[in-house]
Amino acid sequence: MRADVLVMFGGTGDLAKKKLFPALYQMELHGGLGLDVVGVASSKWDHALFLANAEAAIRASVQEVDESVIAKLLSELSLIVGNYEDSAIYSDLAKALEGKSLPVFYLAIPPSLFARVTEGLAGVGLTKNARVVVEKPFGRDLASAIELQACLQEILPEEQIFRIDHYLGKESVEDILVFRFANALFEPVWNRNYVASVQITLAESFGVEGRGAFYDGVGATRDVLQNHLLQVLSILAMEPPSDPSATAMQDEKIKVLRALRELNPEDVVRGQYVGYLNEAGVAPESRTETFVAARFHIDNWRWAGVPFYLRTGKHLKTTALEALVEFQKPPRMLFASVGASSPAPNLLRFRLGSHDGVDIELQAKAPGLDLATVPVELTVEFSSALGLRHEAYERLLTAALDGDHFRFTRIDSVLESWRVLQKVLDYEPAVHPYFKGSWGPEHADTLVPGGWAPI
Ligand code: BG6
Repeated sequence: MRADVLVMFGGTGDLAKKKLFPALYQMELHGGLGLDVVGVASSKWDHALFLANAEAAIRASVQEVDESVIAKLLSELSLIVGNYEDSAIYSDLAKALEGKSLPVFYLAIPPSLFARVTEGLAGVGLTKNARVVVEKPFGRDLASAIELQACLQEILPEEQIFRIDHYLGKESVEDILVFRFANALFEPVWNRNYVASVQITLAESFGVEGRGAFYDGVGATRDVLQNHLLQVLSILAMEPPSDPSATAMQDEKIKVLRALRELNPEDVVRGQYVGYLNEAGVAPESRTETFVAARFHIDNWRWAGVPFYLRTGKHLKTTALEALVEFQKPPRMLFASVGASSPAPNLLRFRLGSHDGVDIELQAKAPGLDLATVPVELTVEFSSALGLRHEAYERLLTAALDGDHFRFTRIDSVLESWRVLQKVLDYEPAVHPYFKGSWGPEHADTLVPGGWAPI
């Protein structure tokens, strides 16, 4: 059933500004949001400032604003201000929600407040039919994730908890699923007999962008590897779900995570860009990593022996998000290759970021009398092939309002991904410095025989 009100804790915060208001505008534009949106915040803003901030956030996110849509959205917004530790904020909220029976509470606030806020909501009887959406990271290691879950679970059953990983809202990430399971062409070769390795990269050419204080307590492993990148890995590696339900999907993803071998420190390279220590909010001798690369192994029949290399970093050479599947070389080299000693293997590249699409690198006959090969690319740009698609947060908010778990993470997979990383979190391998605009510490190249594929 669809919710009848959306309550955004952290309504004056960064996530609301950058992602949630623009998403609400798009929802209104694409057929009507059709419900009231109540912001809750600890900053002492008044109603006018709240609306002005929402409007500015929306105008900054779209080129041509539809004035009637923005006016309608603003008319649906209201704000409640108070201290999250104080019971008054929850009774004010209960008063504001009188007559509503199916609220969604979006917790765009630091995870340390999740338990307190949920208790506060339960204290005024607001959690009975509620859905509670929590942002990642869920915990900061296995023990804290278990503890957080225990607090939430006392009040909310799993069906009422929606854990966000916004990568699961990306159309491009979902396309991996469709590409694999709606085309018969690839599935026969999607295994250890034909795939040599997989590389997943989330590179960003910018730094911590004013989030130094938050980022310094988190680092690249917890910010991105534990969640976004392991989700992409599971979708690439999972078995076909038995039906399109959220449960069947989650059941297959958890099997992959369970088969992931626990990372050892020698499988990981951490880095920190030069200049990070001067960022506002960063501790003077911080050892937080702004780059991490890791080599994973999936110990199951489909993937035994196929390394999965994952990396992410801030202030790298470019901004790109992609997954690259490298196939085995043909069993016998019949042809010479132009510019190389032997033909390069086939590559399948999922571009998952802003210029999303799929590229397949194949060998073609080089022009001329010789039977030599030259690599050529089959490329699909999704923006031209498919037109406009919806942003991740619009899709996730819509799903939470509809109570659909398909694009959210289940607790077992969250705990399993912390399990895989726990040894590395405990041991904290050395942090190698790297220059802004590079591909991270050179040491990261030693993880991948033959090196990372060019982006
Ligand atoms: C967020 C991280 O979850 O994902 C950020 O906190 C990161 O540090 C961002 O920049 C990347 O998301 P996207 O959608 O831009 O690839």
